[in-house]
Amino acid sequence: MAPSPSHLLLALAALLLCSISPIPVACSRTLPSTAATTTVNVTSFGKAYTKVCDAERFAEMGLNMSAFPYCDASLPYADRVRDLIGWMTVEEKVGNLGDISHGAPRVGLPPYKWWSEALHGVSSTGPTMLFDDLHSKPGNHSGRATVNNATVFANVINSAASFNETLWNSIGQAVSTEARAMYNLGKGGLTYWSPNINVVRDPRWGRALETPGEDPYVAGRYAVNFVRGMQDIPGHYSGDPSARPIKTSACCKHHAAYDVDNWHNQTRFTYDARVSERDMAETFLRPFEMCVREGDVSSVMCSYNRVNGVPACADARLLSGTVRGEWHLNGYIVSDCDAVRVMTDNATWLNFTAAESSAVSLRAGMDLDCAESWIEEEGRPLRDYLSEYGMAAVAQGKMRESDIDNALTNLYMTLMRLGYFDNIPRYASLNETDVCTDEHKSLALDGARQGIVLLKNDHGLLPLDPKKTLAVAVHGPHARAPEKIMDGDYTGPPCRYVTPRQGISRDVKISHKAKMTIYLGGINLYIEREGNDREDLLLPKNQTEEILHFAQASPTPIILVILSGGGIDISFAQKHPKIGAILWAGYPGGEGGNAIADVIFGRYNPGGRLPLTWFKNKYIEQIPMTSMEFRPVPEKGYPGRTYKFYDGPEVLYPFGYGLSYTKFQYETSTDGVSVSLPAPGGHCKGLSYKPSVATVPACQAVNVADHACTETVSFNVSVTNAGGRGGAHVVLVYTAPPPEVAEAPIKQVAAFRRVFVAARSTATVPFALNVCKAFGIVERTAYTVVPSGVSKVLVENGDSSSSVSFPVKIDLSV
Ligand SMILES: *[C@@H]1O[C@H](CO)[C@@H](O)[C@H](O)[C@H]1NC(C)=O
Ligand SMILES: *[C@@H]1O[C@H](CO)[C@@H](O)[C@H](O)[C@H]1NC(C)=O
Ligand SMILES: *[C@@H]1O[C@H](CO)[C@@H](O)[C@H](O)[C@H]1NC(C)=O
Ligand SMILES: *[C@@H]1O[C@H](CO)[C@@H](O)[C@H](O)[C@H]1NC(C)=O
Ligand SMILES: *[C@@H]1O[C@H](CO)[C@@H](O)[C@H](O)[C@H]1NC(C)=O
Ligand SMILES: *[C@@H]1O[C@H](CO)[C@@H](O)[C@H](O)[C@H]1NC(C)=O
Ligand SMILES: *[C@@H]1O[C@H](CO)[C@@H](O)[C@H](O)[C@H]1NC(C)=O
Ligand SMILES: *[C@@H]1O[C@H](CO)[C@@H](O)[C@H](O)[C@H]1NC(C)=O
Ligand SMILES: *[C@@H]1O[C@H](CO)[C@@H](O)[C@H](O)[C@H]1NC(C)=O
Ligand SMILES: *[C@@H]1O[C@H](CO)[C@@H](O)[C@H](O)[C@H]1NC(C)=O
Ligand SMILES: *[C@@H]1O[C@H](CO)[C@@H](O)[C@H](O)[C@H]1NC(C)=O
Repeated sequence: MAPSPSHLLLALAALLLCSISPIPVACSRTLPSTAATTTVNVTSFGKAYTKVCDAERFAEMGLNMSAFPYCDASLPYADRVRDLIGWMTVEEKVGNLGDISHGAPRVGLPPYKWWSEALHGVSSTGPTMLFDDLHSKPGNHSGRATVNNATVFANVINSAASFNETLWNSIGQAVSTEARAMYNLGKGGLTYWSPNINVVRDPRWGRALETPGEDPYVAGRYAVNFVRGMQDIPGHYSGDPSARPIKTSACCKHHAAYDVDNWHNQTRFTYDARVSERDMAETFLRPFEMCVREGDVSSVMCSYNRVNGVPACADARLLSGTVRGEWHLNGYIVSDCDAVRVMTDNATWLNFTAAESSAVSLRAGMDLDCAESWIEEEGRPLRDYLSEYGMAAVAQGKMRESDIDNALTNLYMTLMRLGYFDNIPRYASLNETDVCTDEHKSLALDGARQGIVLLKNDHGLLPLDPKKTLAVAVHGPHARAPEKIMDGDYTGPPCRYVTPRQGISRDVKISHKAKMTIYLGGINLYIEREGNDREDLLLPKNQTEEILHFAQASPTPIILVILSGGGIDISFAQKHPKIGAILWAGYPGGEGGNAIADVIFGRYNPGGRLPLTWFKNKYIEQIPMTSMEFRPVPEKGYPGRTYKFYDGPEVLYPFGYGLSYTKFQYETSTDGVSVSLPAPGGHCKGLSYKPSVATVPACQAVNVADHACTETVSFNVSVTNAGGRGGAHVVLVYTAPPPEVAEAPIKQVAAFRRVFVAARSTATVPFALNVCKAFGIVERTAYTVVPSGVSKVLVENGDSSSSVSFPVKIDLSV
């Protein structure tokens, strides 16, 4: 685009500001005389350079690196970033607002591709990750490193079922090591748009497999652990958080209230999520707040959908207000890919032109525009909107250069922290030998085993003893499940791939003549995936028929293994006497076949618990997917959502359900606790009470935001393994608000811990619940408050057979 008079004016104004301003302002500077006008190869660093600030690299470009303070490693990152932006013209700045950034070769800045994914392993999704594919591209690969595969961990819904925070963190660490190795080899980026932490509000959502399930606190803890695994560098946990070096950059997505992909012609691109402030604070935002505040994530992605009319990526309140202002994000905000274009092209908002959509997003706090693909517009190829229409927006006075500078500051601060300019010595020697290591593969196997959930086990049918069971018959569409099914979505090619049938065949002969039948069924990514919500919660009809047929024909009860992300209504199997055992294996990744066999043959005692409610199909007939409320809507006859607000009859297996090959029993160290909380200055909040309640307390609740919140409730849970087989067990601690409070959750997860308990022994598990965090509820006007009255702590076993609870009396003293 040719510079218009207004550009010249802008440039003049910038120069003027540069010379008169006492404070450093971003402005375009004249290049040192050594600067060359030759073009450089801007497609990548090439093999030799893994950092921007390499004097030789500058010399090759005809530049003198010492003339660029942004390469002076002795200066603070913030000063270097200010210097870098100061060299750039407005055109150059605008050219760096898209995910395939143009760089500014004139001043030594190469282009950078921002879009990489690592949901459950380094993924080939996006334009950055370059796995070598020896089969489809048979060229000459000798003389350079090839990376064909990466470790594919079980999908996130599986990992969530392990309820093991250490596992979540370890996966993040392994993935970031493989990512850094790929980066060193010129095959990958440093910025990863994972994890996906939207709460599974409706059981039909197609992306349940990518997420940690339906509980906002569990999703938040998953985010914190995975993000810290991806980002933290030992020895750099504290210090100035905005300048803390990070290993790779993670991104919590998709902010906010995004959980409809394509349901009855409602697509995520145009869907307007009508949500109450209460649901926003209590559920939709909670994992994101934990991710930013406790995980110190370096990026957040805004979603396609609108929230109460406003597209999420143009919502200043959601972005600069909440993410940056309240939660203090140290990092950048990126759009979901094409979210800006969608605002204009699909005419969902205010008839904005391309320049207007670009400007309003940037001003709302979005820093980077991701585009999904090249398109043809006005007869020329175009990718993202911001770098394409940014200059028009500036010329029309709709986009301020200071807004652009803010965005670039957030972007380059992140790249500084990643060592993009200087490298990070401890990671500089990672190479292809650090991808698919034995250690990573065994972590993938262990993780897959930890997430398997035992749903039924009549008369101890499982585990099978391979010495006694000489052969099994193996049936069902997933017996030879291809990688596509076992690996789920957002993956790269796995290091090693084992089908369930291969896993099982290591232990016993597979014969059809065998007495024992194992059926591997479930659904797949044609039924549930990004862009495709489910029509129902059933198995394909012919599969149900086939399972019943095998059950009937088999001399002994059969074993059913279900692969799926979301829950499946297998009511027909739950009580069927000829279906003796049921396992849910999610989509368990490259090592999945081995994990399933380890559980079937007793090398691993399953300890996973469902991270989401398995509803009966009838439930979805009672509520459209687009009803966003979590609480029941009596006037429309809609039931509540998730275990927190639904306790009706249409639950097949509840949230937290999961059996073991052994029996666990609980005891708590207390049978009741009293806590006294001062109500500062007598400021009490009102609550809604059930109609039957005659008298209400003088001080009904205190607002946690006005409170120091130092009070804790401490107790031990002793878990006794009463059986003869050791096993991991998840202690899931809920709190329940005082029963007289109306519209409150039935219960909510307050803490959880996975522990190993040896056969016939007891493990003591200590808990210290912060009163505000664990007993807080969100009242009507969206304040989080601690209610006066008798709340409850509940510890529930996965088989619902045993649970312990004790009252917690909370006095609010005025
Ligand atoms: C630029 O670098 C890329 C990647 O190293 C290489 O494939 C390409 O041939 C180079 N182009 C030029 C013009 O040197
Ligand atoms: C590069 O710049 C530095 C600092 O401005 C100067 O001291 C040095 O002489 C320059 N080197 C060359 C080769 O121009
Ligand atoms: C393959 O590439 C290597 C290193 O670049 C070169 O030495 C070799 O001759 C090439 N082989 C063929 C068959 O082109
Ligand atoms: C979706 O739209 C198509 C085409 O307009 C229509 O035929 C179909 O019935 C719609 N489906 C639903 C579930 O509304
Ligand atoms: C959005 O609009 C563009 C341009 O009209 C169209 O090609 C595309 O299919 C639309 N996308 C959706 C999701 O409606
Ligand atoms: C958008 O344009 C359409 C068609 O010109 C018009 O009917 C509608 O009122 C406009 N909407 C807004 C918000 O300006
Ligand atoms: C990769 O790293 C390992 C460990 O640092 C080293 O032994 C090996 O030589 C490196 N391989 C290559 C090809 O550089
Ligand atoms: C490893 O990657 C190559 C190249 O993409 C692929 O052909 C191969 O199947 C992968 N290995 C496994 C075990 O999937
Ligand atoms: C069920 O039907 C589908 C679609 O016709 C088919 O692809 C699949 O193989 C069948 N499954 C079974 C278990 O028969
Ligand atoms: C929990 O158990 C430990 C010993 O295992 C004991 O020191 C501690 O006092 C107990 N805590 C509570 C709250 O009972
Ligand atoms: C939790 O995960 C870690 C890392 O994989 C593993 O070492 C540990 O055994 C797991 N804990 C339990 C109790 O299963």
